[in-house]
Amino acid sequence: MSSLRLAIVNQKGGTGKTTLSINLGAGFSQRGTTVLLDADPQESAGHWAKVSGNDGDLPHIEGVVAGEVRERIQHLSDAHRYVLIDCPPHLDSDILRRVLSFVDMVLIPIQPSPLDVWASIGMAGAVQEARVSNPDLRAYMVLNQQDHRNALSRSMHEALADFEIPVLRNGLARRAAFRSAALEGCSVYRLGKRGSSAVNDIEAIIEEVLDL
Ligand SMILES: Nc1ncnc2c1ncn2[C@@H]1O[C@H](COP(=O)(O)OP(=O)(O)O)[C@@H](O)[C@H]1O
Ligand SMILES: [Mg+2]
Repeated sequence: MSSLRLAIVNQKGGTGKTTLSINLGAGFSQRGTTVLLDADPQESAGHWAKVSGNDGDLPHIEGVVAGEVRERIQHLSDAHRYVLIDCPPHLDSDILRRVLSFVDMVLIPIQPSPLDVWASIGMAGAVQEARVSNPDLRAYMVLNQQDHRNALSRSMHEALADFEIPVLRNGLARRAAFRSAALEGCSVYRLGKRGSSAVNDIEAIIEEVLDL
């Protein structure tokens, strides 16, 4: 079976890339062999794992540098069903270009504010550019830190409609469990009852992605 190569990107910091990467990675790990490549030089995903000593709940996490990213993605996707890449928050980095030219799908987490959508517009350009060499690249935005799932403002709908990249039906609500998991060095799956709503958010995204 071929692997699914999924990059989590946004040029803006703090939109939820690492939160989404770690927790999707934990969910995918329950479905098949999974590896999370930490391509962010700040290594937040790697630090997350160090908190817990990575005792099994987190996906397997490896660091990578720009010069090796293609080879590593290729190599890892020979041996893993799911390869996730947590990307650095730059638009012009070599590593982002290389990752986008070599994955099946990108997820772009954004906060549900028009300002955040506009700040992410450069991503649409980067995706278009990558499609020159990677024409099958699929790209979706993922709404993160939603307060009321179905109550997006009209200005938000208008901002999203201007954006060429479609939005996943499922997103992440703002939940203490996502922060607790980071503090405790685990995924939301490890939090038991405290994490059950967060797990539902993540599972819904995984099922949607696998259905696309
Ligand atoms: N859905 C959420 N609910 C609550 N806190 C969140 C959520 N998503 C992200 N956060 C918090 O927001 C901050 C930034 O998230 P992070 O995943 O580190 O973003 P990025 O990797 O894009 O810089 C972190 O403190 C994280 O715990
Ligand atoms: Mg990060």
